[in-house]
Amino acid sequence: MSQRKEIPQHIAIIMDGNGRWAKRQGKSRSEGHFAGMNALHECVQNAANSGVKYLTVYAFSTENWGRPQAEVDALMELVCTGVELETEELAKQGVRVLIIGDRSRFSDKVKAALNRIESNTAHGQTMTLILALNYSSRSEIVVAVRDLAEKVASGELKAEQIDEQMISSALYTAQIPDPDLIIRTSGECRLSNFLMWQASYSEFYFTDVLWPDFNKEELDKALEAYAQRDRRYGLVK
Ligand code: IPE
Ligand code: IPE
Ligand code: MG
Repeated sequence: MSQRKEIPQHIAIIMDGNGRWAKRQGKSRSEGHFAGMNALHECVQNAANSGVKYLTVYAFSTENWGRPQAEVDALMELVCTGVELETEELAKQGVRVLIIGDRSRFSDKVKAALNRIESNTAHGQTMTLILALNYSSRSEIVVAVRDLAEKVASGELKAEQIDEQMISSALYTAQIPDPDLIIRTSGECRLSNFLMWQASYSEFYFTDVLWPDFNKEELDKALEAYAQRDRRYGLVK
């Protein structure tokens, strides 16, 4: 493997294409999501081994509740299965898990699983894995604006004190640096309500590979592409 100049500190992934992968294999969409979970397991190991410090994955959007009930149920079950299968190993590897999104809509069983994986991995120092679940970037911004508006109304804060840093700190991602690289699989080239504020200066990498097929080789290709990018932030170099 060639020597890479620059490893992104934070990679965010829109894990798309499980349904199409399943269709091609003559399997159910739920089986596609199971294969997607295996791909995520591999990706976590490979990202951590490459020196990535934060990996955010879009696992379930607020819009995904509108899918057929059987698929939604299978995805919720998969969250619980994933927590059961992965927590111990993640804790051993020093991977800290954080959840972003609105948890209030999940069942008690899913809420308990999410709390369990967060608390059992809280001391991890190797990498932070952020799971976006019932996540919507617009809702996240609405919640942040309401939060700040309440502080202004109560006199705790003056409107003119609100700056970019304060808004960043009011988001679910308050303690997490902005993503350096955003990957979307399956050939779609859109954000689908993911990290819109945080993506201001992210590099984007789109691939036709379907998420269950996104292996180490594919991650390495994305890392190679990132290493070739020239991030100028509006300046002249
Ligand atoms: C992404 O795969 C996983 C989730 C959105 C939960 P999809 O289920 O969107 O797969 P496609 O886009 O239908 O192939
Ligand atoms: C985005 O994928 C959400 C996740 C990967 C969890 P979708 O498949 O839901 O997005 P659209 O419908 O193609 O925009
Ligand atoms: Mg999709």
